[in-house]
Amino acid sequence: MGASTLAYIVLLAMAFSVASASDPSPLQDFCVAVNDTNDSVFVNGKFCKDPKLATPNDFFFSGLRVPGNTSNKLGSMVTPANVAQIPGLNTLGVSLARVDYAPYGLNPPHTHPRATEILTVLEGTLYVGFVTSNPDNRLISKVLYKGDVFVFPQGLIHFQLNVGKTNAVAIASLSSQNPGVITIANAVFGSKPAISADVLTKAFQVDKNVINYLQSQFWTDNHTY
Ligand SMILES: *[C@@H]1O[C@H](CO)[C@@H](O)[C@H](O)[C@H]1NC(C)=O
Ligand SMILES: *[C@@H]1O[C@H](CO)[C@@H](O)[C@H](O)[C@H]1NC(C)=O
Ligand SMILES: *[C@@H]1O[C@H](CO)[C@@H](O)[C@H](O)[C@H]1NC(C)=O
Repeated sequence: MGASTLAYIVLLAMAFSVASASDPSPLQDFCVAVNDTNDSVFVNGKFCKDPKLATPNDFFFSGLRVPGNTSNKLGSMVTPANVAQIPGLNTLGVSLARVDYAPYGLNPPHTHPRATEILTVLEGTLYVGFVTSNPDNRLISKVLYKGDVFVFPQGLIHFQLNVGKTNAVAIASLSSQNPGVITIANAVFGSKPAISADVLTKAFQVDKNVINYLQSQFWTDNHTY
């Protein structure tokens, strides 16, 4: 094995070890996502379309024109604009979501495992917050008005509640092409199959009936996919 081959392998290993930690810096102008697995290279995301075949629509999405349907138990709906909707976002490390809130609607406590979020309020008044990690578990919260911006650091549990009598709309910008979402109640009480009630009874320090009740609820997912 020549020195240059070895250097190449070391570089490759470094590139992939970095890529597994977060969205990588783009290694080319763009990398439009395709599903063809025949002859493609995996780039910490989707396969890339031949750049010569890229079209304007690979970089376009009109889905945020339309308000999300907030007729659900939470009174909110998240409409994403990530690499699943915009294949041209592949490897670029950003995405958006539109969040609609009915009066008093809630985007319930959740985290994005792969992204920091910066939220801009387009309409309405939102009470928002996030909680820091252990051991402090400090709540950092604020009431936001139209035009205000708030940051939810990567991985931390956060929420938004519409505290106004009118609909509210916000745009969430996220530092990943595929930020992921874990809605806390849905994941803990609505997992399939269910987490053993023994686990949750001890974890939440409540009677088993409370856990049975929570596990029997229908946990609304306020996301379109
Ligand atoms: C890839 O395949 C999935 C599932 O079949 C589909 O929903 C998606 O639109 C496809 N993406 C592209 C860029 O073709
Ligand atoms: C990928 O390979 C399969 C099996 O060889 C073939 O049927 C398919 O047409 C190929 N896809 C493309 C886009 O070339
Ligand atoms: C909104 O969702 C509700 C409940 O699923 C449904 O009944 C209603 O038809 C939807 N409205 C629109 C405009 O799609």
